[in-house]
Amino acid sequence: MNQSQSQLFEKMATELKGLLDSDSINELVTKAKAAYENAYVPYSHYPVGSAVLFSSGKIYSGCNVENASYGLTICAERNAIFQAIAQGEREVKGIAIAVPTDVFPSPCGACRQVIREFAVDCPVILINGKGQIRWTSLKALLPEAFGPEFL
Ligand code: THU
Repeated sequence: MNQSQSQLFEKMATELKGLLDSDSINELVTKAKAAYENAYVPYSHYPVGSAVLFSSGKIYSGCNVENASYGLTICAERNAIFQAIAQGEREVKGIAIAVPTDVFPSPCGACRQVIREFAVDCPVILINGKGQIRWTSLKALLPEAFGPEFL
């Protein structure tokens, strides 16, 4: 990454951090990291934890749950969101995704679309196993997205 790219990243991170209060940020990071401890990953050995802040102020967490019939695997992000929806939540305000490996995680296409169902845009916090944090946004991850308001 060159200097102007890293300056752009820095600017984006500052703007995104401003959308969430510091307690929520800390709780999102802590809960996403704790969530991967329960990941059920006998096939990929790639644990993922996610924590999602909703408009109620509550944070829901989830881990990936794999299956011997591989296609039935559910990602950490969708697990957390579906649990929240089942409790009556509807509006995502921010999401954190954590992995214990060195490389930053990146939500799969299916999860990006599911997040888009409940937020037009929101901050996305990526956490790696070195304890480093990268800020991005749903719009950056899924530009020109199709969403519920098209119907
Ligand atoms: N996975 C997630 O849970 N979230 C992501 O953001 C990427 C992928 C899971 C699915 C599967 O259990 C494992 O990671 C390897 O793909």
